[in-house]
Amino acid sequence: MSREREKELAAWTAVDWVKDGMTIGLGSGSTMNVFIEKLGERVQQGLSVEAVSSSVKSARLAEQHGIRVRAMEEATAVELAVDGADEVTTKGLLVKGGGGSLLREKLVLEAAEKRLILIDAGKYVQAAGAFPLPVEIVPFAYRQTMERIRRTGLEPELRVRKDEPFVTDNGLWIVDCQTKGVTVNESLHEQLKQLTGVVETGIFAAMADDVLIGKTDKVEHLTF
Ligand code: 5RP
Repeated sequence: MSREREKELAAWTAVDWVKDGMTIGLGSGSTMNVFIEKLGERVQQGLSVEAVSSSVKSARLAEQHGIRVRAMEEATAVELAVDGADEVTTKGLLVKGGGGSLLREKLVLEAAEKRLILIDAGKYVQAAGAFPLPVEIVPFAYRQTMERIRRTGLEPELRVRKDEPFVTDNGLWIVDCQTKGVTVNESLHEQLKQLTGVVETGIFAAMADDVLIGKTDKVEHLTF
């Protein structure tokens, strides 16, 4: 079974978690696109929800599917946040930011009462580190910031799309870091956050309450 199909299974199951009247936090990425489309179908059928979004792209998709999107500042409560991830460890640590929305994703997840993460089976790992760790940085003096990151033992590479630096919804840049054996954990996150020029890291510790893993013939539900 393809990874796409596994993502689809997890996303379809997640839609059943959404109840009438909820404000839903929307993550970003291909898994979330499937979730948003499916949620849109439910809204067409009469489900009443509002959403806050972690990216311009997800907000646009949600609106195209009839889901009302509010600004984070307007939301009094976010009952459920749903998001994808690039890696989920057996201890529930997430690596995110493959799509470049990590800062807003973290803000949405932190604001939520319950956090549900959707992945395909290949992303559930013993320890994080195979996926290059995304770190959002300030463009000004980026070479110096990258050098500071390099001194932690990571190997950062500026994310480039169409020959230009990839620009996040926050007007910032992303470096993708080969971990080169450095343990990806909360203390690495703390260390990186102290570096001038670093705005946020893709290490999300204790930010998953539930994980749905799409598998060949079922969806596995983990609770952390
Ligand atoms: C975006 C993210 C995504 O959740 C992550 O990259 C997973 O994406 P996909 O569902 O496309 O595999 O963190 O910043």
